[in-house]
Amino acid sequence: MKQVKNVSEVFHWESQRQKGCYFEARSVVEVIKSDVVIVGSGIAGLRAAIEAARASNSRLEISIVTKVQAMRSHSVSAEGGTAAVLYPELGDSFESHIFDTVKGSDYLADQDAVERFVLAMPSEIYQLEHWGMPWSRREDGRIAQRWFGGYSYPRATFAEDKVGFFEMQTLYDTATKYDSIKFYQEWFATSIVKYQNKFVGVTALDIKKGDFAFFKAKAGIIATGGSGRLYSFATYGYSATPDGMHMAYKAGIPLKDMEFIQFHPSGMVPSGILITEAARGEGGILLNKEGERFMKRYAPEKLELASRDVVSRAIITEIEQGRGFKDEASGLEYVHLDLTGIGEKKIKERLNGIREIALKFRGIDIISEPVPVRPVCHYVMGGIDVNIDGATSIAGLWAAGEAACVSINGANRLGANSTAECLVWGKITGELAARYATEKQHEQTPWEDVMMEEKRIFDGILHGSGSVNPYEIRDNLQREMDANAYVFRTGDGLLHALKRIREMKKQDFRHCEDKSRRYNTNLKDVLEVEGMLEVAEVVLLSALTRTESRGAHARRDYPNRDDKNWLKHTLAFRTEEGPKLDYKPVVITKYQPAERHY
Ligand code: FUM
Repeated sequence: MKQVKNVSEVFHWESQRQKGCYFEARSVVEVIKSDVVIVGSGIAGLRAAIEAARASNSRLEISIVTKVQAMRSHSVSAEGGTAAVLYPELGDSFESHIFDTVKGSDYLADQDAVERFVLAMPSEIYQLEHWGMPWSRREDGRIAQRWFGGYSYPRATFAEDKVGFFEMQTLYDTATKYDSIKFYQEWFATSIVKYQNKFVGVTALDIKKGDFAFFKAKAGIIATGGSGRLYSFATYGYSATPDGMHMAYKAGIPLKDMEFIQFHPSGMVPSGILITEAARGEGGILLNKEGERFMKRYAPEKLELASRDVVSRAIITEIEQGRGFKDEASGLEYVHLDLTGIGEKKIKERLNGIREIALKFRGIDIISEPVPVRPVCHYVMGGIDVNIDGATSIAGLWAAGEAACVSINGANRLGANSTAECLVWGKITGELAARYATEKQHEQTPWEDVMMEEKRIFDGILHGSGSVNPYEIRDNLQREMDANAYVFRTGDGLLHALKRIREMKKQDFRHCEDKSRRYNTNLKDVLEVEGMLEVAEVVLLSALTRTESRGAHARRDYPNRDDKNWLKHTLAFRTEEGPKLDYKPVVITKYQPAERHY
């Protein structure tokens, strides 16, 4: 293949397929060899690649395998801010950022990880600045910050309301300066290959050409982002499916705390597009049908700037009690986010992105009219179980960003801590993976596993047959999640959804109508649906089993937090019968769990 320069091994085997089953000639698996392979090209993946290149003085070959074009990674959609303590002399402090994050997490965050995160963040802001990030400025020319929910200080650092786009642009520009970083864009990674519990590489499908390759590497980093497209009403790009989490789960790494899904209070109705929390940080208010600023009844001090779980529950409660509006076309109920008090000048300077979104998608000018909003799936607090260094249970394999659960977010993440986490653990894992790859040799390749994966994809799915439409499965899955694993949950609803997902898993949907090799998005979609079903099963079982309410996991049948029984992380291990749950303790260094008030 022309674009692949560092092919150093090619593995041949004779086709053992039975006559009449599959005729296409394909007897070579290409091996693309590098030192570090990073799956995912969002903020965490790019930050990791740059750090691996820097830490190794460009002596290591680094491959970035990404199922999209890098600048289409979902990180580009981040809007409002990246949290960091920049101005201790003006009243902010590390202590305050640590405490706000722990309190926001409903005390499920690991406090040692939160401390490490908060201390590392300021230099990430300045590092981005040095790489060219156009941070918005204060009157005095210093980097600007603003309020976000759940904070005691306005520490969301921003570039208008396009923070993710500018961060991605900055990181992508920087990454392309390193010859040692190679991008494999529109390659869909399908499995982690290991030998004696050591990382050996990943298999991947070139979506453009339909080729299959083994990316052999000494070290790997999974940075594939969140899995918010388990829901249809979501702020996520359509690409945000749990592929990386699923790969890790299949490789024997547990998924941690997957019951904790964040619903951002302001998803625009009916599309679900994010209206940034910065809109409330800059002075926007929430109003019900009676024109009442209802947050005063739920969070008398912080009002609209309470943590997201609190604000989302308040909106749903207003709607359920008959004080919401109804969008007749979609049937969705909502409240108003009123930004008219902010003023045209500030909106144009700081919230121009959402102004454009509201104009284009709803014909609403936020300068003079309220926006219809309701809670929308926005973030997954759980993810691949990693330790404080981002290391998984497979030697030589790390995970970073939303795909991973360190955990700094516990049961509810504070806004602006996500892009920040991607930067911090992108750097940490990039450096550690580079060090590991420098010290180690390539492991032996278990070819049988690579071949099995190739067979699964091409014989099993591309040329497989089946009677059930995979897109119907995807729609039904999302419908179950929207209906039964939303802001408020019940045991009955979760159980119902779990049973439905398990039925879907057994159905005959693993096949493609499009049998071609080139740009077969049908094949990619089926692979995504497989992962979605398995990860949705983990979310539902973890949520059903956690018989308490904590952070974003609000059970109507168990309305209280139960520290005695549930101050612990959920771990879901894959078995033939489905997920098997286990638990591990939360790291508490300083802050004992207390009641939360905002
Ligand atoms: O509302 C927002 O701008 C989202 C930020 C975040 O999730 O961190």
